[in-house]
Amino acid sequence: MIDLAPSILAADFAHLADQVEQATAGGASVIHVDVMDGHFVPNLTVGPPLVKSLRQATRLPLDCHLMIENPDLFIPDFADAGADWISVHQEACRHLNRTLNLIKQHNCRAGVVINPATPVETLSEVLDIVDYVLVMSVNPGFGAQKFIPSTLHKMRRLAEIRAERGYRFRIEVDGGVGMDTVAEVVRAGAEILVAGNAVFGKGNPAANAQALLEAARSANLQRV
Ligand code: DX5
Ligand code: ZN
Repeated sequence: MIDLAPSILAADFAHLADQVEQATAGGASVIHVDVMDGHFVPNLTVGPPLVKSLRQATRLPLDCHLMIENPDLFIPDFADAGADWISVHQEACRHLNRTLNLIKQHNCRAGVVINPATPVETLSEVLDIVDYVLVMSVNPGFGAQKFIPSTLHKMRRLAEIRAERGYRFRIEVDGGVGMDTVAEVVRAGAEILVAGNAVFGKGNPAANAQALLEAARSANLQRV
């Protein structure tokens, strides 16, 4: 099952509800919210108040990607605001097991994220408790960056480990996913596809989402 998760980072914030509705009309099934603190990544974005407003504007699950230090301090606020999925960076968590359990205690799906330079092996001890693993295919902080192909093997490896060990986590990819890269990420095993610029950058978000999903689904058929 393929999910398209448009990243609102690339949307027009003055017309956010409209933009989300258009992406939904094109088949988006998750809304990806990029949260940046100016410390873990060199950029600032949005926090729980925006998640709270967005909660009123869509019925789709809200996937909050926390690119922040000390995520434990903010997880309760995001959950209260209406987040459905919360992911934290392996690189930002000194007590990753505790943080993932905190997300679950707030009745959210718990995800762990790895930067392009972080190996899959660093997740070995948490893969049995996470609901999803997000493989960054750009260095986090900004939209519209170029896809880093050397991250593909990590999606493949995660799919292998999941089959070997009978785990249930899903595989998400984020960064530089567009018409030119969507087929290869799906063939590598990605099932939840984050796309910012490719959905909201230019043209019609509904048509863009639909085209991406069609390309993803046909790549998925080739895979199985
Ligand atoms: C990058 C963010 C991404 C970003 C994706 O730090 O985590 O979600 O918005 O944007 P595109 O699809 O434009 O690369
Ligand atoms: Zn993201």
